[in-house]
Amino acid sequence: MNIYPSLMVVLEANLKKEVDALAPYCAGFHLDIMDGIFVPNTFWYNAQQVNEVVKCAQRVWIHLMVENPLSFYDQLFLPDGSLVSFHIESCVDIFSFIKIIKEKNGKASIAIRPKTPISEIVPFLHSIDQVLIMSVDPGFSGQPFLESTFDKILELAAYRQELAMNFAIGVDGGVNKNNIGRLAQLGVNDCAIASGIFDEKDHLIALQNLQKIVGLH
Ligand code: DX5
Ligand code: ZN
Repeated sequence: MNIYPSLMVVLEANLKKEVDALAPYCAGFHLDIMDGIFVPNTFWYNAQQVNEVVKCAQRVWIHLMVENPLSFYDQLFLPDGSLVSFHIESCVDIFSFIKIIKEKNGKASIAIRPKTPISEIVPFLHSIDQVLIMSVDPGFSGQPFLESTFDKILELAAYRQELAMNFAIGVDGGVNKNNIGRLAQLGVNDCAIASGIFDEKDHLIALQNLQKIVGLH
């Protein structure tokens, strides 16, 4: 499983220090982008600011929680292979956005809110690199993991197996040492984690402890 520390809880003044300390040990960094409309919070809503963080973080998983993800994405400069999640619930022509991300050598990911059923993303499964199942209502870190997520993962993993597809399954929200083992067993490939790492005293040890649970160390 790939673990991406989610930087939304890191103070801007500490960003470089945290990124430098964790980068050699993690898959990359998860960057949350919020416009105060799609979710009731704002964070890194200025594309220039995001581009600065991307330069520092280098391997990134961008999570667009904005009403108009395409116009925001257009202003970003991302390294090849970056993972780009946009929400199925935001206003966008999904197939054309997937195409645009791929033309820029990115990996396309569709995110779904906890209340959105898996059936809504089925038509796109053949065209994307990842499905991001939100395990909290998007917008804030530190929320408890929603147990209903386990059933959604099971349903999605079953589709993947039945249809012999190879999209990754991502989970974001409330992931910690108590649930990450089960997520790995169910077939989750990518996790974004903020408080499960940054609320602990030693962030690197917290990351490595999570990796041990999923057999990475
Ligand atoms: C929440 C964000 C998450 C957030 C996760 O909407 O998408 O990436 O940083 O925070 P934790 O791991 O604390 O739930
Ligand atoms: Zn996120």
